[in-house]
Amino acid sequence: MRVRIFPTDQLLARALAADVARAIRRQPALVVGLPTGRTPIPFYRELVALCRGGQIDFSRAITFNLDEFVGLSTDDPSSYHAFMRRHLFDHVNLSRRRTHLLNGTAPDLIHECERYEWAITRAGGIDVQILGLGANGHIGFNEPGRSLIATTHRTRLREASRRANRALFGNRLRAVPREALSMGMGTILHARRVVLIATGATKSRSVARMIQGPVTPRLPASFLQLHRHAEVWLDRAAATRL
Ligand code: GLP
Repeated sequence: MRVRIFPTDQLLARALAADVARAIRRQPALVVGLPTGRTPIPFYRELVALCRGGQIDFSRAITFNLDEFVGLSTDDPSSYHAFMRRHLFDHVNLSRRRTHLLNGTAPDLIHECERYEWAITRAGGIDVQILGLGANGHIGFNEPGRSLIATTHRTRLREASRRANRALFGNRLRAVPREALSMGMGTILHARRVVLIATGATKSRSVARMIQGPVTPRLPASFLQLHRHAEVWLDRAAATRL
């Protein structure tokens, strides 16, 4: 794993946005995997600024989000659909037809997961997968446990993950769904390049275990050690235990 440490989360966000802009200039129909959470918000802000400044053209780019809650409609303000509109999609020239998210209210969720896998395959696979890191070591919603699931699937959320997401639900833990749909660990590992970003001291323990610990489903992010082109971009606070 290639580790890069930035003095601040802002500088990390700027560097990552510039990196994605370069990649899209080289390959306008780039397929990008996108995360939600607090960590990527400064990165999305930088992408919006680059787009407004004419330095990035998303018109042919394709995106796939990692995950979505089960039971929230696509226009629910707490959904990841709404998060993506708020922080990125409403502010850049990404074509809606080319942005893909899982639908947590699809009538048949197994079919929905299969549809997503097919859509990724049809797009030619993911070129760059950007990832956040759960404080408990999850990526997407691949939660710690005794085993992992390779493909896109329905999953039960850990209490720690529900708590970490409660800000999206007006801090009401009871309103946070108990299940989600998520790309699988295999889906993520199939991406040609993976960039995991983690900022802040609360992530430092998982960061150290992910990079220096054993590969284990108890810390799903540790599976990135098996990827040929996995990069971990950190700010100083997240890197303190390395
Ligand atoms: C959420 C998402 C993950 C994200 C993680 C970290 O639960 N499902 O994809 O990476 O939590 O979130 P944050 O960046 O807010 O710490």
